[in-house]
Amino acid sequence: MEMPDRTMRRQVLLFISILSLTSVLCQVSYSIPEELAKGSLIGNIAQDLGLDRKRLTLGKARIFTGDSAEYIELNRERGVLLIKEKIDRETLCGQTTPCALHFQVILESPMEYYTVAVEITDINDNTPIFEKSDMVFKISESAVIGSKFLLERAIDPDVGTNSLQSYFLTKTENFVLKLKDQPDGEKIVEMILQKSLDREKQEEIFLVLAAVDGGKPSLSGTAQIHVTVLDANDNAPVFKKSDYRATIPENAPKGTVITKVSASDADKGPNSKVTYSISNTAADVRGMFEINELNGDLISKSNVDYEKGRYYQIHVQASDEGGLTDSCKITVEVIDMNDNKPIINIMSQTNVVSEDSKPSTVVTMVNVQDLDSGDNGKVHCAINEHIPVTLKPTSNMFFNLVIDSDLDRETASEYNITVTCSDEGVPSLSSSVTLTLQISDVNDNAPVFERSSYEAYIVENNTPGLSIFTVKARDADWNQNARVSYILEDSSVNGVPVSSYVSVSADSGVIHAVRSFDYEQIKDFHFRVKAQDGGSPPLSSNVTVKILIQDQNDNPPQVLYPVQTGGSLVAEMVPRLADVGYLVTKVVAVDLDSGQNAWLSYKLQKATDRALFEVG
Ligand SMILES: *[C@@H]1O[C@H](CO)[C@@H](O)[C@H](O)[C@H]1NC(C)=O
Ligand SMILES: *[C@@H]1O[C@H](CO)[C@@H](O)[C@H](O)[C@H]1NC(C)=O
Repeated sequence: MEMPDRTMRRQVLLFISILSLTSVLCQVSYSIPEELAKGSLIGNIAQDLGLDRKRLTLGKARIFTGDSAEYIELNRERGVLLIKEKIDRETLCGQTTPCALHFQVILESPMEYYTVAVEITDINDNTPIFEKSDMVFKISESAVIGSKFLLERAIDPDVGTNSLQSYFLTKTENFVLKLKDQPDGEKIVEMILQKSLDREKQEEIFLVLAAVDGGKPSLSGTAQIHVTVLDANDNAPVFKKSDYRATIPENAPKGTVITKVSASDADKGPNSKVTYSISNTAADVRGMFEINELNGDLISKSNVDYEKGRYYQIHVQASDEGGLTDSCKITVEVIDMNDNKPIINIMSQTNVVSEDSKPSTVVTMVNVQDLDSGDNGKVHCAINEHIPVTLKPTSNMFFNLVIDSDLDRETASEYNITVTCSDEGVPSLSSSVTLTLQISDVNDNAPVFERSSYEAYIVENNTPGLSIFTVKARDADWNQNARVSYILEDSSVNGVPVSSYVSVSADSGVIHAVRSFDYEQIKDFHFRVKAQDGGSPPLSSNVTVKILIQDQNDNPPQVLYPVQTGGSLVAEMVPRLADVGYLVTKVVAVDLDSGQNAWLSYKLQKATDRALFEVG
């Protein structure tokens, strides 16, 4: 609606009174802008109604508004209508146009009234106002181009050109404003997305929406638009590195944190929450490592053993809650610790060697292994000292135990050989094996008699078969080689084989008399006894045994003189006057025995008168 100027205009219209007063005919209308100051002139009502000013005075002209507020007063003297209260068109009429005050000017004597309409024209006295001056939008960054966001409308109570005419939005590349006219003249204000949002670039967008009216000058009101760009899971987690390298000493306890991987996700909230998991990794490796799903710590789940595996590759996946992922690889290198003792393997072993084995005879072959590497796996071996065996390396980690000097079972019949191997780790680990090497016997010792010669005594008149004594020979060898047999060596005594005098028990070495000896016939004799062992060939030695026969008093003395014949007495002649001490005769006797047994003494046995003779 065009209101070209604000000057007052009169309009005279026909008006059919609805009041029951005296009929009245015409009405006057004025047009004034709102907001005129109190006392401002509206119009010369007297003139416009064609009335004399006196008539107004005398007729007590007054304004009748019914119940409505009185904005206008009548000055009877001047015959004009004046503003009594400032009129706000918007208060009075709101958006209704035209806006007019209708009232009556009532006169008395005669009673009559006139209808007056005062149109209140709009002035641009209202700024467009947004009831909600803050508009908050939460828009996902994944919102598609063309998405519409309804904005609050501003309100401008003014009407016509003073009313709200247009909206403007802060320049932004993301949004464009779109106004849609509604049938009722209102506008729908929309913000259209024309370029995708990217939370990672700009999370908050502050815009100002201005509403502008058509007044001159125009007035405008603004509202803040606060767009929060909501994260869409448009970013996958990204590992800081695609290849991680870490080391772990073997035998590190379970639960050792080996390394930490980290992925970040440019998104926000749940979309940026990264969880870690092991993926695409061999099941056995999975059994050894685990990843803390929240912080990315790689943790050992079991003891790692350098000897079983030196490198492990673990693929770790980082996932956000939206299912976007990234992966990285961790190479875990296991550091060798000296955790393995050398292992001594006896490859081949002779438990028994003959005592006549030549030096350099190989007794045992030994192999050593150490599962560790580097110095931890370098091994040195040694054997105990003071044994006739040395350890000779043959090649790397192979050794021979070799005899290096003469053996003698009779000196040492077994050796305990302790092979000790130590590695060069710090601290060093070692292990040892003890072998028992037995030295087998060779018949290298002849029996040896306990004495270099024997002498034995036997009393004559012995019973045949009497054991005279025992010879004993020892043999330092073993078993059969040491089993000694005694043999009487052939010889003759007085032209008689010695075997007719004595015998030797082969097993025991006991010498028996074969016959009864007569000292008076043979006083001693000697022979040889041989001791022979059971070796093959046998070894022997001999010893001289001398037998001395001891005398027994087995022979009575025999009187040789005077000779007795046939039991007759022997007569001796003695002179009558023989003096005392006269030798009558000499008795001569002998004894076949020897020694004391042959010592003779004489005494008178029978005498008629003992006082007459004596014997010396
Ligand atoms: C060898 O060792 C065994 C068992 O320990 C022991 O009985 C034997 O006397 C040892 N031999 C030597 C010659 O030390
Ligand atoms: C007896 O032993 C000696 C050395 O002790 C030896 O010379 C001699 O030949 C041996 N006699 C016999 C019959 O073996």
